[in-house]
Amino acid sequence: MTIKVKDLVNEDATLIGRKAWSDEHIYELEKKGIFGKSWLFLGHESQIKNPGDFVQAYMCETPIILARGSDDKVYANINSCSHRGVPVCRADHGNAKRFVCPYHNWSFTVEGELATIPQERELQCKPDKSQLGLKPVPRLESWKGFYFGSFDENIESLDDYLGDMKFYLGAFIDRFEGGIEFVGAPHRWVIDANWKLPMENQLGDVNHGPFLHASIVTPEANQEIIDHGLSAVTTPGHGATFRMMPEDTHPGLVAWGMESPNVMMAPPEVHQYLFDTHEKAVERVGPVRANMKGLTYGVYPNLSFLWSNASFKVSHPRGPGKVEYWSWSVVPADAPENVKKTLRNNYATFFGPGGVLEQEDSEVWMQQFHGSNFDFADDRKYFYGLGLGEEKSHPDLPGMVDVTANEHYARGFFERWRDALQAVEEE
Ligand code: FES
Ligand SMILES: [Fe+2]
Repeated sequence: MTIKVKDLVNEDATLIGRKAWSDEHIYELEKKGIFGKSWLFLGHESQIKNPGDFVQAYMCETPIILARGSDDKVYANINSCSHRGVPVCRADHGNAKRFVCPYHNWSFTVEGELATIPQERELQCKPDKSQLGLKPVPRLESWKGFYFGSFDENIESLDDYLGDMKFYLGAFIDRFEGGIEFVGAPHRWVIDANWKLPMENQLGDVNHGPFLHASIVTPEANQEIIDHGLSAVTTPGHGATFRMMPEDTHPGLVAWGMESPNVMMAPPEVHQYLFDTHEKAVERVGPVRANMKGLTYGVYPNLSFLWSNASFKVSHPRGPGKVEYWSWSVVPADAPENVKKTLRNNYATFFGPGGVLEQEDSEVWMQQFHGSNFDFADDRKYFYGLGLGEEKSHPDLPGMVDVTANEHYARGFFERWRDALQAVEEE
C-alpha cells in the first residue's frame, strides 16, 4: 500500500512516522520534490581556481562536473556522455583541456560542449555537434565562493534561498581576511542510514553530545552549552547552533574550529594566530558574531557545517537506506601552514571517516535506520515535540531562537519536507 505523506508528519511535526526514513516510494518523492527543487551545494571556488580546474559533485544521485572554463566562468554539467551515457570524467578533481569519453572517444570541452567525434569525416551526414553537449545544470549561482546548482529553472535566487543563514555562515567565513579554502578532494564514505538523519543531527541536535560522545564531551564543555548554547532556525529547514559567549570571554575559549586537545597541544604560533584572528573579529563580523562559538549548522536539504571542527559535509542519498557522505576540511586561506595542519588534523581526528565522533554518530544513524525499517511498530511514531512553541525572536539574532534542548530545528525541517513532498505527491 502506498504511504501518504500526511500520515507520516502531523500538523505541528511533533510526531513523525518511521517510514519517512525507509520507504522507497517516499524516497522517489524526495528526489522529485526536494532534490529536484532545491539549491544543492556543488563545490567551493578555492577548488577550481584556474581555467580547466574541475571537481566532481552530485545532485542527489546525478553526477555533476563543476569546472572553471577557459573564459574563467564556472560551469556545471551532468557527467554523462550524450552518446550512450557513460561518465566522461572519472577523476575526483584535476585540471583538463577536454573530457574524453572512454567508450567511443567523443570529447567535450571543459565548458561542456561536444568538441570532436572520431571518424566524423567519414560520414556523409554530419551530426549537429552544437546540440550534443553535456546537459548543463539549469541554474548555477554562488555566494561567497560557494557554488550551488538547481534542477528547478524557476527557483528563487540563491541569495534569497539562504536568507538569514548567511548571517550565521558569515560569522565563520567572514572572520578571516583572506577567506576560507576547502582542502583537497573530500573524504567520501558510505553509511547504511537514511540521508536525513545526519542532516537532522547537524541542524541542531547537540543534545546527544554528553551521552553518545561522553568520552570526549567533558562536563565543562557540556555546561558551557547549557549556559550559553542557542539553536536558531532562520527559514524552516535551515538551522544553526552555537554558544553565545559573554563579552569578556578569553579569546582562547572562543576557539573557532579548534576545540580539542589537538589545539591545546599545538605550537604557540597556532595559539597566536587564534588570538590575532579573534582580535580582528569584532571589526570583521561585528561584536555579536565575534563572540559566537559555533557548534553545528544545516542548510536545507543536505549541506552541513561542523564549525567546532571546521568541516563542511554533504549527505548524498543513495536510496532510502544508504548515504554517501562527502566531507571537507576547511581552513582560513591565509593562515600559516601549521595552523592549517592543526585544523586538518583536528577535523580528521573527530569528523573524518575514522573520526571518533563520526564513528559514534554513524553507528546510531545505522541503528536508527534499522528502527525505521522493521515491521509492527509503525503506529508508534517518533516524538519530536521537545520545546514546542518555546522558540522566540531575539534582539540580536535573526530567526527563531531558543535553548538547544528545543527540537524546533527538526520540526522546521520536517514541516518543509512534508510540504515539499505533498506538492509532488499527486503529480
Ligand atoms: S558513450 Fe561516450 S562516446 Fe560513446
Ligand atoms: Fe554527534
